[in-house]
Amino acid sequence: MRLTIVLIVSLFSGLILAQEGDNASGTQSCDACEVSEKLKAMETRLNDTETRLMDADNRLKDTDNRLKDTENQILEMKNKESMITTALIILTMAFAFVHANNPPCRTRSNNNAYNSFSRKHILRDEFDYRNDNEWEIYIRKHGLTDRPLQSFIVSGNDERVTDICKGAGQPLESSRYRANLCISHRKCLVYHVKLDKNNRVTNVDHAIQFVVLACDVVENQCLPVHYEKYTNQLPNRSAAPCQP
Ligand SMILES: *[C@@H]1O[C@H](CO)[C@@H](O)[C@H](O)[C@H]1NC(C)=O
Ligand SMILES: *[C@@H]1O[C@H](CO)[C@@H](O)[C@H](O)[C@H]1NC(C)=O
Ligand SMILES: *[C@@H]1O[C@H](CO)[C@@H](O)[C@H](O)[C@H]1NC(C)=O
Repeated sequence: MRLTIVLIVSLFSGLILAQEGDNASGTQSCDACEVSEKLKAMETRLNDTETRLMDADNRLKDTDNRLKDTENQILEMKNKESMITTALIILTMAFAFVHANNPPCRTRSNNNAYNSFSRKHILRDEFDYRNDNEWEIYIRKHGLTDRPLQSFIVSGNDERVTDICKGAGQPLESSRYRANLCISHRKCLVYHVKLDKNNRVTNVDHAIQFVVLACDVVENQCLPVHYEKYTNQLPNRSAAPCQP
């Protein structure tokens, strides 16, 4: 573009010079001056336009680069997203796998699991169960403080409870629950004790209800390892009873 301008300018200058040569009078020369100035103005404007065009070009390039950046970022995000999705899918599958493969009496638990369950949920001593104060004493004596809602099965002996994991219980109907849960065939007397922050008993009630427990293998026996709140869960009648 610049070359064209230079060419045009030199051509006109040549003409003017020729004219000047032909006629060296003042008026003619002034006309030439005017033309030459106009040409210069045109050149300047052309230069300006060129500069602005170049600016615009640069800005376009900038925009293009930024677009590319954005595109890259989007790609990166998509990659991250797909990574997270993959991780989630793997986790879900792993969970489903564990869930589906851990029916009652399959998972091994440590030796302490049954003892801990038994201490927390099978009532050991006889006392006046209607007396809040005696409950407080019992809870302190057995180191069961700092659990705001506690449930105790009144069994007479541990076997009536452990039997739930040995044929006297049934897997639950819905797979919404932990797969190793069993519900007792028979109802039991269960006390529910509420404590406040200072381990003062604020409420005691009792119910004759079904008992839901998690049954795991402890030292080659199937035993309860966890007490699950009874919320009207139903047994799966078509499944075999919970047993080793
Ligand atoms: C030169 O200019 C004068 C006066 O302006 C004019 O009379 C004359 O004809 C011109 N000569 C030529 C060769 O153009
Ligand atoms: C046009 O631009 C060029 C370089 O960009 C410069 O050298 C030249 O003097 C400019 N011309 C005018 C008339 O501004
Ligand atoms: C009940 O148990 C049977 C036998 O294990 C099983 O095939 C079925 O899917 C279970 N039903 C429900 C609702 O969990």
